[in-house]
Amino acid sequence: MEKIANGLYRLTFGEPEELTPVSVLKPEPRFGELNARPDYGIPFPEEEICCRRRAGSFLVEVPLSPEEDLYGLGLMLKSFRQTGRKKLLRANSDPAADTGDSHAPVPFYLSTAGYCILIDTARYVTLSMGNCKIRGSRQDREGFESAGTEYGHWWVKAGSGNLFIDIPAARGVELYVFCGEDMKDALARYNLFSGGGVLPPIWGLGVMYRAYMHGDRERIYTLAKELRKSEMPCDIFGLEPGWQTHFYSCTYQWDEERFPDHQKMLTDLADMGFKVNLWEHAYVNPQSPVFEDLKPYAGDQYVWDGLVPDFATEEAQRIFAAYHAGLVREGISGFKLDECDNSDFTANWGFADFTQFPSGLDGEQMHTLFGALYQKTIIRVFEKENVRTWGEVRNATAFAAPNPYVLYSDLYDHEDFVRGMASASCSGILWTPEVRQAESEEELLVRIAAAVVSPQMVINSYQVKMPPWVQWDTAKNLEGERLPNADELTQKCRSLLNMRMKLIPWLYAAYYTYYEKGIPPIRPLVLDYPDDQTARPVYDEYLLGEGLLAAPVIFGKGDRRRIWLPKGNWYDYDTGFRLEGGQWMERKVRPGDLPLFVREGTLLALAEPEQYIGEHTCFRLHLTAYGAEKCSLTLISDDGVSCCYQKGVRKIQYTADRDGLVEPEADERYCVVDYKRII
Ligand code: GAL
Repeated sequence: MEKIANGLYRLTFGEPEELTPVSVLKPEPRFGELNARPDYGIPFPEEEICCRRRAGSFLVEVPLSPEEDLYGLGLMLKSFRQTGRKKLLRANSDPAADTGDSHAPVPFYLSTAGYCILIDTARYVTLSMGNCKIRGSRQDREGFESAGTEYGHWWVKAGSGNLFIDIPAARGVELYVFCGEDMKDALARYNLFSGGGVLPPIWGLGVMYRAYMHGDRERIYTLAKELRKSEMPCDIFGLEPGWQTHFYSCTYQWDEERFPDHQKMLTDLADMGFKVNLWEHAYVNPQSPVFEDLKPYAGDQYVWDGLVPDFATEEAQRIFAAYHAGLVREGISGFKLDECDNSDFTANWGFADFTQFPSGLDGEQMHTLFGALYQKTIIRVFEKENVRTWGEVRNATAFAAPNPYVLYSDLYDHEDFVRGMASASCSGILWTPEVRQAESEEELLVRIAAAVVSPQMVINSYQVKMPPWVQWDTAKNLEGERLPNADELTQKCRSLLNMRMKLIPWLYAAYYTYYEKGIPPIRPLVLDYPDDQTARPVYDEYLLGEGLLAAPVIFGKGDRRRIWLPKGNWYDYDTGFRLEGGQWMERKVRPGDLPLFVREGTLLALAEPEQYIGEHTCFRLHLTAYGAEKCSLTLISDDGVSCCYQKGVRKIQYTADRDGLVEPEADERYCVVDYKRII
């Protein structure tokens, strides 16, 4: 065992593999911040961690106490609390069952006992999270089986075994153990070790609208004008595959027939206040200008007849990045990095686990690291220009916190989509419950409301010609048939999207805390209330920054919403009523409702909604102090777009005391237009 920083230890077992997330992704830990935090020791005796080999695999056993609950493992759509479960972590684009297949499996887990562990492997690792017990082990002797069976199905926690990590192919492994004051602090330390959380460009927090994939230049103009005319907030306009001459696999070249003079279109869109984001994946078509150059730096298998670049080599990164720099210079603000997650058994595309790559990675390891390496390659294009980017990605793994990418899926179960936010937050990744089609007006509204309080608000209309609020029925939308009540539904959706825009200063400050302190901007309750047994399994309520609790409605669950309010006093944002926490409350909900609660002692800032965030946008703030006590708020002011925030930002501090609001010096980003106190 080796101490690396305060509260951070590396445990080495056997002969670890050479190519791992740490050695390949090379995180840049923020040691200064880590060492400024108090030191904590490992919460279990070192000698109780054991390892052993079996044919083709390496096993590590880590003690687990029956009181502990475990979270993490990456984006888990079908389960949140992982205690008592077995998961085989594999990158997969169609994680239909709760087996560990995921767009973003992360070999990492987090415990309510105030520590988390990163397993530094790129293998498809199996974790048994307390569901098996070795006969004759310490737990067996001490009768651990009697404890911890009070919740969940009887078989889930029964036995309360230790934690087992089974790693194929390896002859050893390194574990990184992060220990903190509580689980939020431990997670924050992991995020700081990863390099700190991302601070998106401020426009990234607005609405992203992805346009019809078969649309041409005229369709794009029509949509863009319609969005502005109907005053639907939108910051980012996403072009789907059809912008390229060939897209499965990709050429990364504009199709000049459908998009004649695309440069003019990009300039016009920029003049209308849109940032443009381009869809692509990393499989390089033979017609692509980068194909020949990339050939020596690619795997020995094709996907969709395209090369699979080995982004673990400097050459592949450089060639790919240099080409993309051209697109960025044309005015592209970001990319949607699709399909870097592989599809086993279902859609059956992807490279095989036995693929060989020039860097020495095999297909299995590459599947774990592919999305992360692809992100790294694109990020360097923007870093070079000193601008921030913001986009989407379909695969991520360890050390993802600093990356300006949010995960998404082709799956669509709404409960899974909401749950994804909770599991992602506990794994150092971000997830959007994007809105696509709907079977009804109600479904559309419920889905949009949940996306309002997510890391990224995405309307992915790639399958339909018109926005979904004009026609939610896909077939009719494609026929161009507008809903009879299109205006009314547009108005309802506009007010939800406006709520997102109101939250931007608040979210920007929350993201800054992610960057500075490693604390995720959107957190399931357990992170802030780890000792609250009722809060532990709750996956559909979360804290946005400090003091604001969102309990989005899940579609198909009736018109009543049960909400657990943690201890303390809360205010219902809609009614202003004061509520006592530490109990369940039930609320009748209509489609489009977004239950929000404000913790007593919070100074909440909401902005007047903008249609988009421009370079010089000054947010007109409405501040509300909740409760009788003095409270304060810090907002972040900077240029919102460059990487200069790394050298410091202006922290704007507002304080509300008995005499009213104490305002800071004038700042060009914010001005207060209204202040009130609710008691
Ligand atoms: C999928 C992706 C969708 C859309 C589509 C276009 O893989 O998840 O959001 O971009 O490709 O072909």
